Amino acid sequence: MKNLVSVVALSLVAAALPAQDSAPGSALYKQQCVSCHGERLEGRSGPPLTGGDFQSRWPAAELTAKIRNTMPLDAPGKLTAAQAADLAAYIRQNNASAPAGASAAPASVAAGNLNQLMRGVMFPNSNIIFTVQSHDPAEKKKAGDSVTADGGFNWSQWGTDLYSGWEIVDYAAIALADTAPLLLTPGRRCQNGKLVPVDDPDWIRFTKELEEVGRAAYRASQTRNQEKVSDLSGDVADACAHCHQVFRDRFRRGGRGAGGGALSGAGDLRCTKN
Ligand code: HEC
Ligand code: HEC
Repeated sequence: MKNLVSVVALSLVAAALPAQDSAPGSALYKQQCVSCHGERLEGRSGPPLTGGDFQSRWPAAELTAKIRNTMPLDAPGKLTAAQAADLAAYIRQNNASAPAGASAAPASVAAGNLNQLMRGVMFPNSNIIFTVQSHDPAEKKKAGDSVTADGGFNWSQWGTDLYSGWEIVDYAAIALADTAPLLLTPGRRCQNGKLVPVDDPDWIRFTKELEEVGRAAYRASQTRNQEKVSDLSGDVADACAHCHQVFRDRFRRGGRGAGGGALSGAGDLRCTKN
């Protein structure tokens, strides 16, 4: 029985290509990166660091800089240049030993993962619409208004004078409606490396809901009526929450105690339903 188990285990290991340990970055990787990127660089809450998709995005020099400037995600900027270079070498070594073109995924056409798209587009634009609940976009800006005294409607200091408060609300609504279909771009990955589930009927339905609420927010904004936009902001929040409840806010029962009662957020479960 014992023999059988180890034969099975061996073949699994062979199929999964164990990470090579000879590169100098190996120990550092185990210490600082393994928790998010996995023992075999296969990805956990962070994306996999192998595959054609990964390699095409990170040529050697850029890979070292990416690691040094932004990793580990929870404490960036602490690695020395030499450590970052060792880690990049370790990652490259493990990519070199992987069969070429082994990635089953379509080549990604997206610059960012889903989390980055959310933070770059959905988050700021919905916040502009939410701000209408507490600030009147028609309010006249005072001369000398600073970044913090602008009534909440600015991207940066120079932007404050370019468009009126109401126009900015228009553009935020349009951004939500017209970028919603980007959630259906095939090949985009979630932060944990899973492909965005663009074929899932629920995913498509929630994307449609976001697009429609963006259009409704634009129509409301065009009335130049603060009350109307405020009323709609609840629908915007709901459209975000409906998808998040199913695909983002995934929890796993903690193993502590007999009941295993504690729930903890599990980034590696995001973007799937099971
Ligand atoms: C707390 C979790 C976490 C830790 C620890 C961490 N990473 Fe990451 N890593 C991420 C996430 C999330 C991303 C995707 C977002 C991004 O690229 O900034 C990422 C992206 C990357 C990428 C780019 C991947 C791609 O497909 O674009 C590389 C390379 C990388 N990490 C290397 C490392 C190395 C080397 C370490 C150890 C020094 C490390 N990471 C530690 C979470 C982590
Ligand atoms: C069709 C599904 C869907 C819709 C609609 C959606 N999201 Fe998301 N959102 C996700 C998923 C899934 C993630 C996690 C992505 C990842 O881990 O790469 C996410 C992540 C985020 C994050 C990053 C969370 C973090 O950890 O920092 C923010 C912010 C966010 N969404 C805001 C919004 C807002 C605001 C809206 C509505 C205007 C919205 N989302 C609509 C699916 C959706």
